[in-house]
Amino acid sequence: MAISDDFLTELRSRVDTEDVISSYINLKRRGKNLIGLCPFHNEKTPSFTVYPENGSFYCFGCGAGGDMVTFIRRIENLDYVEAVKLLADRVGMKMPEDGYDDTLSRKRQRIHEANREAARFFHTQLLKSENEFALSYFTKDRALSMNTVRHFGLGFAPNSWNMLLNHLQSKGFSLSEMYEANLIRKSEKENGGYYDAFRNRVVIPIIGVRGNIIGFGARVLDDTKPKYLNTNDTLVYKKSKEVFALNFAKSSGERRLILCEGYMDVISLHQAGFTYAVAGCGTALTQEQAQLISRYADEVILSYDSDEAGQKALQKAISIFSQLGLKIKVLELKGGKDPDDIIRKYGKERFKALIDGAANDLEFRILAEKEKYDITSDDGKVRFLTAVVDILSREENPIEREVYVSRIANELSVDKTAINLQLKQTIEKRRRAVEKTKFGEMQKSLRFQKDEINPEKRDNIRAAKAEEAIITLLMNNNEFYNSLKNELSEDLFVTDFNRRVFSAVINRLKDGKFVDIEHISGMFNPAEVGRITQMYMNRKAFLNTVEECRDCIAVLHREKEAKALKNQNFDDDSEWLKSFESLKERKQ
Ligand code: CTP
Ligand code: MN
Repeated sequence: MAISDDFLTELRSRVDTEDVISSYINLKRRGKNLIGLCPFHNEKTPSFTVYPENGSFYCFGCGAGGDMVTFIRRIENLDYVEAVKLLADRVGMKMPEDGYDDTLSRKRQRIHEANREAARFFHTQLLKSENEFALSYFTKDRALSMNTVRHFGLGFAPNSWNMLLNHLQSKGFSLSEMYEANLIRKSEKENGGYYDAFRNRVVIPIIGVRGNIIGFGARVLDDTKPKYLNTNDTLVYKKSKEVFALNFAKSSGERRLILCEGYMDVISLHQAGFTYAVAGCGTALTQEQAQLISRYADEVILSYDSDEAGQKALQKAISIFSQLGLKIKVLELKGGKDPDDIIRKYGKERFKALIDGAANDLEFRILAEKEKYDITSDDGKVRFLTAVVDILSREENPIEREVYVSRIANELSVDKTAINLQLKQTIEKRRRAVEKTKFGEMQKSLRFQKDEINPEKRDNIRAAKAEEAIITLLMNNNEFYNSLKNELSEDLFVTDFNRRVFSAVINRLKDGKFVDIEHISGMFNPAEVGRITQMYMNRKAFLNTVEECRDCIAVLHREKEAKALKNQNFDDDSEWLKSFESLKERKQ
């Protein structure tokens, strides 16, 4: 079962590769290709390359690659059919009626629908007179306007074991659908039934970037613990990958985002007009969340709670974002514990002033060091300077470094050239250390890393290379098949992964169909598609001849026989002789 070739070809011709990819990352032109920072791994210099010519991409840093459908699968976490659908929607094509399995995408859709219905239910409950106390928690205790309550679709889950369950049932949702949406949970007791996941809590819907309700955060109205209950991971929600309120913030028109810790901070900030505020979903900031944020912002304003936990989280966030190359500002929430607290105590102007006066991360780190030492003493001065030089040595922008060196030289009345000299040495030392570990890691990974995609390659390197050459030669030159069809066979393949790829290719060629990466990408997972793309990349510069393919086939024959010989049970003379004979035959 597959989506028809005609459909895929049409889709490929309509989809503008550059347009699609640059809606996720910044691309720069390089000849006829485009390059940018890879969205699938951490890097500071671009190795992510887009080939508009054939609608594909490849990252020389991490090996991610493939056609546009594969790109969408990876970046949006979708399955194959969903990714095709997303692209089709984008260019105004209607999906074909059949030819594909969309069970998973239908399941996801049902979860979205169940969530939407649940959100509607919670919101209606919040507005009921018997639940006055819940609404007044938002409007009085948290000073939210009715507009804000509506805008965020806030709600209340009544103190009942099954009100939501019954409601969803009446709307046609099955228990298993509710359970998969994590809206109901299953009792641990023997013969225990299902019960509502959220009870007697105010509820905050979490909306994905494409506008679906993907989960909920539910807060107690008092001080009982746990303060929040969140949706567990489902088919549509991985909390480590989601960012709260990004659906609103992404269209704020700013290329910067305020990142806070809590849902309530975000809601309060939006109400105060800072509609570019977001928060991670119920966890400490993850790499994936930061990457998502970096798609919508060039600058992130970190607005973490002023308590110890908040400051610790802040350090982690700084290190994650600076690796991604984002500009960072750090808000110091003087006089309040979190953004919501500041706004309620002192008003939005104060928060605006904090943003305007916010230190960038360099400044922030230098200030933090300054507080540690007594810079009026010589000893304190030296220690402080050493710390500053260490911080500045990590800054890549020389102008930025120069600014701080001058500022500090002035402030401490020390010679600027002395600081610069020290700085230069430290940078050089760091560069060498980094290179050394990089080299070491590379060696180590070459030696020990398991090849997850083709685990047999390591022990069959020669065969695997020949296999890969055959695959790419055939994909690049579909017409070779006619001359080679009697010589090619799946049995020749030594490694399972390459055999699978070969089968996918050959099955199309047998039917007289073209084959290119987009025709087979649906049969492999995105990492595997990356590997196939890598084969392409590695071979592009070689000769492309039928003879070369024949040579590779011969290599596979030899490898197979050598292997057979090695595994031979030598007690059995007749078997041994047979294989010896066949080897002689081939050699002639
Ligand atoms: N959080 C959670 N579970 C908890 C506590 C916190 O998932 N038991 C997550 C929530 O995403 C919360 C964030 O951590 O929004 C920050 O926690 P906190 O500052 O306590 O929450 P606020 O949203 O600021 O709530 P409030 O202002 O009502 O205290
Ligand atoms: Mn708070």
